[in-house]
Amino acid sequence: MRDLFNQPTDRRGRNSSKWDLLESKFDVPMEDGLAMWTADSDYPTAPCVLKALQDEIDHGLFGYFTDFSKYNAAIQWWMKERHGWDIDTDWILTAQGLGNAIAFCIDVWTQPGDRIVTFNPVYHEFEMKIRKSGRIPVQCPLGRDGDIYNLDLDAAQDLLDGTEKLLIFCSPQNPSGRIWSADELRQVAEFAERNNLIVVSDEIHHDFIYPGNTFTPMDVAAPHLRNRLVVLTASSKTFNIAGMKTGNMIIPDPTLRDAMAQRLRSLDYSANALGLKMVTAAYSPEGADWVDAQIAHLMGNKTAFDDGVNAIPGVRSLPLASTYLAWVDFSGTGMDFEEVSRRIRKDARIAPSAGPDFGPGGETFMRFNLATQRYRVDDAVGRLQAAFSDLQ
Ligand SMILES: Cc1ncc(COP(=O)(O)O)c(C=O)c1O
Repeated sequence: MRDLFNQPTDRRGRNSSKWDLLESKFDVPMEDGLAMWTADSDYPTAPCVLKALQDEIDHGLFGYFTDFSKYNAAIQWWMKERHGWDIDTDWILTAQGLGNAIAFCIDVWTQPGDRIVTFNPVYHEFEMKIRKSGRIPVQCPLGRDGDIYNLDLDAAQDLLDGTEKLLIFCSPQNPSGRIWSADELRQVAEFAERNNLIVVSDEIHHDFIYPGNTFTPMDVAAPHLRNRLVVLTASSKTFNIAGMKTGNMIIPDPTLRDAMAQRLRSLDYSANALGLKMVTAAYSPEGADWVDAQIAHLMGNKTAFDDGVNAIPGVRSLPLASTYLAWVDFSGTGMDFEEVSRRIRKDARIAPSAGPDFGPGGETFMRFNLATQRYRVDDAVGRLQAAFSDLQ
């Protein structure tokens, strides 16, 4: 099955934001540039997902629909089977992907001018969504011990003024790939309780867990947090179907859930039928086998990337426990960020995500998306080595 991930694909001109914005956003040429920024994958989704979609196409009718039971049951099965998490199907509310879910959470549980806590560096869209909705980000720096990020909750406490309403937490963590232990999750839960925060636990990367690591859902680690917990999950990263705009807010507490359900009803919000169908097919034993094969492929990519990039003096790709996003520190090169960025975009012709966008702690980093064919990873390594060859 691993060859599924190495078949050449060309996404240019197919309305892929990752590839079609290469020139306009990064000044990287379309002909031979490498897109390694936005977190989607360059290989097709699982055969079982394609088959389900084909079945709908063969049917040819795309009218109104009513039944969420198979979709909800598939989510319930996946959470139990893959994450040891017992959920009730009533807890599931759908959103158009998790970007949309985060915006809904901000909208429902805070007011313009409210302060919202994040631990940085973190997925840059948290800050964007907080600012776009007129709320104020309180960016608490993570600690770092060598290659490993950790929570510095004392430092975070000092940044709070007691009026914060929400914590948007990323678990596993994008961009560092850190998987928080059950003990750390309980510390976050205590922090939230102490500061009267609702916790939005964004667990979108939870299916990318590399061997030797264990992911614990926030609700499993800290069940006492339920009266203030919203868990976000989606198959958009796991199965590369982000364009289908389907994700979930899993909310065990009835009061919190009713508040969100009421907002969704008042906006006449609904998921789309094809997205539901694809997710239902994905969360299956066949889908699970495909995910396992994908993880094996990604491990190979990560090893090849790290070996090649870490051979450049002053460059350090941090070890990944989760996600397919390599988080690479260029501080040891002694170059300023502009020069690092220029060499990567202009000399290597690669478009990664810029570390500073991830907030405090990201200043000297670049994030490279490795969910691609191995030949592209090898190509990227060769280009990076050449772009920094004067450091050898
Ligand atoms: C932590 C995190 N949350 C949410 C999203 C967006 O998810 P979706 O495509 O389901 O909107 C991403 C995408 O990179 C992400 O990394």
